[in-house]
Amino acid sequence: MYKINDNYLKLPGSYLFSGIAKKVREFSEANPEASIIRLGIGDVTQPLAPAIIDSLHKAVDEMGAAETFRGYAPDLGYEFLRSAIVKGDYASRGADISIGEIFVSDGAKCDSGNIQEIFSLDNKIAVCDPVYPVYVDTNVMAGRTGTYDSITEKWSNVIYMPCTAENNFAPEIPEETPDLIYLCFPNNPTGSTITKDQLQEWVDYANRVGAVIIYDAAYEAYISEDNVPHTIYECEGARTCAIELKSFSKNAGFTGVRLGYTVIPHDLKCDGVSLNSLWARRHGTKYNGAPYIIQRAGEAVYSEAGKAQLKDQVAYYMNNAKVISEGLKSAGYKVSGGVNAPYIWLKTPDKMTSWEFFDYLLEKANVVGTPGSGFGPSGEGYFRLTAFGSYENTLAAIERIKAL
Ligand code: MLT
Repeated sequence: MYKINDNYLKLPGSYLFSGIAKKVREFSEANPEASIIRLGIGDVTQPLAPAIIDSLHKAVDEMGAAETFRGYAPDLGYEFLRSAIVKGDYASRGADISIGEIFVSDGAKCDSGNIQEIFSLDNKIAVCDPVYPVYVDTNVMAGRTGTYDSITEKWSNVIYMPCTAENNFAPEIPEETPDLIYLCFPNNPTGSTITKDQLQEWVDYANRVGAVIIYDAAYEAYISEDNVPHTIYECEGARTCAIELKSFSKNAGFTGVRLGYTVIPHDLKCDGVSLNSLWARRHGTKYNGAPYIIQRAGEAVYSEAGKAQLKDQVAYYMNNAKVISEGLKSAGYKVSGGVNAPYIWLKTPDKMTSWEFFDYLLEKANVVGTPGSGFGPSGEGYFRLTAFGSYENTLAAIERIKAL
């Protein structure tokens, strides 16, 4: 009789956002008259920018003519996109990254879940708590996390780095030495950031102990403050200890289009073995490349018109963040995030648990958010709202919450 990968059976419940979607669906079926405002999952609502649409149209036409038709994309991505990425996201910030270090993919969620495959199962991971659930869940599936304690809601073989109001939602270097360190800044879910000096401490630490930092910079476009790094490669020594994950979903609205990339510098080596070559081998074997038309859309993100249009789009969402932050503060909530990130992290009122507050908001205000405890035990008593709604819905949601 065949056997399944029983690591999957260790996963408690369903994926956070699937579970929430199910709950909201059930509520909506039971209350068809309720006009529900969704500020839960970080999914964008604004249409693709005109420069991106133009580029998509052009690429679609190319696919319809024999002379310009393209089949399989190059494994690691088209050079036109990889060079636009190098120029737009790295060279412009003084970060030394070359085309051969960029791997184009269909999104940062897949990359953040898949990247653990090139590491031994013996490695111990460290994660922020709360954290984007994909990092932990995919390590559970691989069999790297030990056993789950449903009381503490922790895995026995994971190092948790609590991010709470006491440490300004910034992780501290753990007592136990990890092998793989997942960091995400601007942070999902708390919306917090760390300064370049703080990130430099992590880079120095990783190089000292021989750890790899998996740095998720999906929300980089939302940084508004000067001392916040846009890429880990702004830090000295990051080329020997860091992998960076980037997404086109949040800066350019590609959640339904799918495009992302991963950076693995050639200097990142384990006992002389290049991680770049391992990931290239994996990419070549398991992936046939992001579609040509989508990579052309990605290229448009770096055009002058694209940059200007996306700056406005980010500003639109950040105005929502302000509406949420200020509205909640005026209603007496303790709020953080929303300055360099499209997420607002709030303390639940009246000692409600995160899920109690979720139910309360859904029932009384018909507003959907994300319970902080869904991101890890230190998220208990917190709640996340996203700024990715429309302005009108965001305003209406906050008015409803204030009226409670
Ligand atoms: C979130 O809500 O945390 C994000 O939408 C998740 C994601 O980007 O996969």
